[in-house]
Amino acid sequence: MTAEEYQVEMKNICKSFSGVDALKSVDLKVKAGEIHAVVGENGAGKSTLMKILSGAYSKDSGEIFLNGEKTDIRNPKDGREQGIAVIYQEFALVNDLSVAENIFIKEIGESRFINWKELREKAGKLLNELGFGMIDADTIVSRLSVAYQQVVEICKALTGDISVLVLDEPTAVLASNEIEQLFELLKGLRDNGVAIIYISHRLEEVFDISERITVMKDGECVDTLKTSETNEHEIANMMVGRQLSAFFPEREANIGEKVLEVKNIRSGKAVKDVSFDVKEGEVLGLSGLVGSGRTEALRTIFGADKIESGKIFLDSKEINIKTPQKSIQYGVAMLPEDRKEQGVLLDLSVRENITLSIINTISNFLGWLNKQKEMEIVNNLIEKLRIKTASVDAKVASLSGGNQQKVAISKLLAADSRVLLLDEPTRGVDVGAKIEIYKIINSLVKQGYAVIMVSSEMIEIIGMCDRAVVFREGKTVGELEKNKLTEENLIRYAMGVQKQ
Ligand SMILES: Nc1ncnc2c1ncn2[C@@H]1O[C@H](COP(=O)(O)OP(=O)(O)OP(=O)(O)O)[C@@H](O)[C@H]1O
Ligand SMILES: [Mg+2]
Repeated sequence: MTAEEYQVEMKNICKSFSGVDALKSVDLKVKAGEIHAVVGENGAGKSTLMKILSGAYSKDSGEIFLNGEKTDIRNPKDGREQGIAVIYQEFALVNDLSVAENIFIKEIGESRFINWKELREKAGKLLNELGFGMIDADTIVSRLSVAYQQVVEICKALTGDISVLVLDEPTAVLASNEIEQLFELLKGLRDNGVAIIYISHRLEEVFDISERITVMKDGECVDTLKTSETNEHEIANMMVGRQLSAFFPEREANIGEKVLEVKNIRSGKAVKDVSFDVKEGEVLGLSGLVGSGRTEALRTIFGADKIESGKIFLDSKEINIKTPQKSIQYGVAMLPEDRKEQGVLLDLSVRENITLSIINTISNFLGWLNKQKEMEIVNNLIEKLRIKTASVDAKVASLSGGNQQKVAISKLLAADSRVLLLDEPTRGVDVGAKIEIYKIINSLVKQGYAVIMVSSEMIEIIGMCDRAVVFREGKTVGELEKNKLTEENLIRYAMGVQKQ
């Protein structure tokens, strides 16, 4: 194939960050009218490569060709003008503006007179076309669920003329029906000749949607394969560079007494009637569609949202958790869904992030910090979770997405707790690290922790949980014991097909 037949050609791209090589001579060729998946472990360099393509980062060396012509992409504006649209892993929305304002933010910035009515209508039309007519263009973005914020990001990218669309883990926050809608949209764009680069840690969907797959590892491109000529197992092994063990590690169930119980709790519009319990040594899954109230239920238990009625019991005694601080005192800790908003402090270092949650354990009553103990705990967690960071003092912002998630988890582990509320704990995490997180969960329940885990990946609920509760429209509508945990049963309850 001659160079002109590629819409995008990146050659020998190198990039280092203060001496650390993030990309070592990477090649990537993407055709017009193809969906090209890029996969690789956390920190492999996927996002960095895309930021170079979009103009967000400058490359140290290498060449970029668009439609056969050598080009320079000096900044994001330059990239957009050359038809490159990127949807980043971390959103870039303005929280206080409405959906319509966010979608047309460029136009608002560039024109002096704005017809607000027209803007709203245009935004509404676009949302409708994408199959997301239920999102009101007037809503303030911060009020939307993470999934819907993602949809707004996509709309924003589609307002211009594009020939290359990059999606960096677009489905990490979407539920299965929303993913289908997104895929329809992408196929339409592909058939119109757009070159689509699709980054995802969910191999299943990579195989669903892509024509070719490029595997990256440690800043290098391992290979590019035709999707129809390979399989998930081969790709996963290429990604980690070794034979992977069983995806869901075995766990000997050793389930004890009931620890936490919630009865008919209610909060705001999202949590209408939720009841369930979790026992020592048990992993309880919360399943259901995005928007079914799972996250909000966890937030209510954690004291982050106000409980309006219903009761929470710890060791069969009613407790009154009004704030997250109170919850942590009771030994109930939470890993939030949106790590950027609540999970980690991006401007602080890895060490500071971990230390903040254990400050009481490692400082004496006068407030002196026991440096040695601090370093021990921090290093131990970095090792245990295999956090890839240049040093303990590197800012969390400089870590890859999956490694940021690991920092959020390590914060949780550092604090003293008994009940862990995990909201999408493996979101954005690569296969190898996923298995690590599963192993960590297994070792925690073995020590007697009770784990409550929200997951939108049914396979994860089935593979990891001893029991699952299904949410629908703010209510718990069913409970499935391990031997009844099948995709079919989960979907039935989630969609309301099954009679109670
Ligand atoms: N702004 C930055 N400053 C310093 N180092 C960085 C920066 N951006 C990325 N890196 C480093 O470059 C490497 C590649 O990171 P990148 O974000 O591209 O990985 P990724 O493949 O997208 O991973 P993930 O699947 O976790 O999102 C990592 O080691 C990361 O720490
Ligand atoms: Mg990334």
